[in-house]
Amino acid sequence: MDAKDRLRRYLEQRRELGESELVLDSLSIDDVMKMVGAKSSASPTAKSRAQTPADRAAAAPSADGPQAPPSAPVAPPPEPGVRFDQGATTDWREALRNAGAVRPSESLSPPVAATPASAAATGAETSAGAVEADLRAASAMPNTMGEALVTDLPTWLSALELPLGIEAGRLRVIDAAPDVAQLPTLADIAEHVAGCTRCALYKSATHHVPGEGNPTADLLCVGEAPGVQEEEQGRPFVGEAGELFTKILGAIQLSRGDVYLCNVLKHRPPGSRDPLPDEVFACQPYLLRQIELVRPRVILALGRFAAQTLLQTTAGIGALRGRIHRFHGVPLIVTYHPSALLRNESWKRPTWEDVKLARRILDASLSASADTTAP
Ligand code: URA
Ligand code: URA
Repeated sequence: MDAKDRLRRYLEQRRELGESELVLDSLSIDDVMKMVGAKSSASPTAKSRAQTPADRAAAAPSADGPQAPPSAPVAPPPEPGVRFDQGATTDWREALRNAGAVRPSESLSPPVAATPASAAATGAETSAGAVEADLRAASAMPNTMGEALVTDLPTWLSALELPLGIEAGRLRVIDAAPDVAQLPTLADIAEHVAGCTRCALYKSATHHVPGEGNPTADLLCVGEAPGVQEEEQGRPFVGEAGELFTKILGAIQLSRGDVYLCNVLKHRPPGSRDPLPDEVFACQPYLLRQIELVRPRVILALGRFAAQTLLQTTAGIGALRGRIHRFHGVPLIVTYHPSALLRNESWKRPTWEDVKLARRILDASLSASADTTAP
């Protein structure tokens, strides 16, 4: 396999894990530099050697090389004059940035999602420190709507003594899309989505997939986008991943009819590629309105796109799991996407832990309201 292929495959694996940071646990910086086309820098003097046009040509991703996927992180060619060894840094992140590489999640950040700390979290910080900084910064981000965020934790929730995460919910439907904010029922949303032209996906999609389930569900589950079978049937989570997820729900004593199931995108991207930032941005008012109408007790975000869209963060799944985030005050738990579990069995156990956590929060919420309504 060509070096660039190897690197791309490695980065794709990291992305599937939901990592926004690049953790080079099995590759040395020299390996990676070779893969992106840089000459070996095994000797310290290599850093100060002059770069020839041939070096630059070797460094630039070759036009006839294997096509990178649309959001592949290694794509942008170095700007003229940008050198792999620029800055003579020993920090691989900085080195990769200097080489023109972007962080995998950069392309995802929706317009309101700037997370200052992730940009600020450079080499000096450990990746665990960077994660903490990401979480802190996302919660501290100025509220563009001028609203106070819910910061009071209900007693029943703090009694669980679980690590807290991001406090999200700055974007209101009324500001994002006033027409969507007016839709009175889930059926109205579905109808609106059927004629939606807010992004270009309606042109290639054969059916819309708005979502389905209990309109007053206690648990609302958010995936990424419809797949082939979902598109065919106009229903979410009916393909192989959906079947697996239905079983996972069963393991916490919930049926499809108990919960509400939907996706960030309501139309399938061509070839089932990753959602583009514009598409996520265009489609999110529907998701926000669905959450407003269902008013779930707990939200389960399946996979990176759902988690990052709702929490407005670039942090990866690994960092976001195991914490109680809140979305407009509603506890939100993050887990792996069921498609990821089909590819990697080893994520089934952590997913099981995550859904048990969601169940625990749900039960605590239910018994708290049973207490308050008891005579
Ligand atoms: N994957 C998703 O994210 N959503 C579906 O509805 C099906 C598969
Ligand atoms: N795989 C993941 O890990 N996350 C997604 O959102 C989709 C597929």
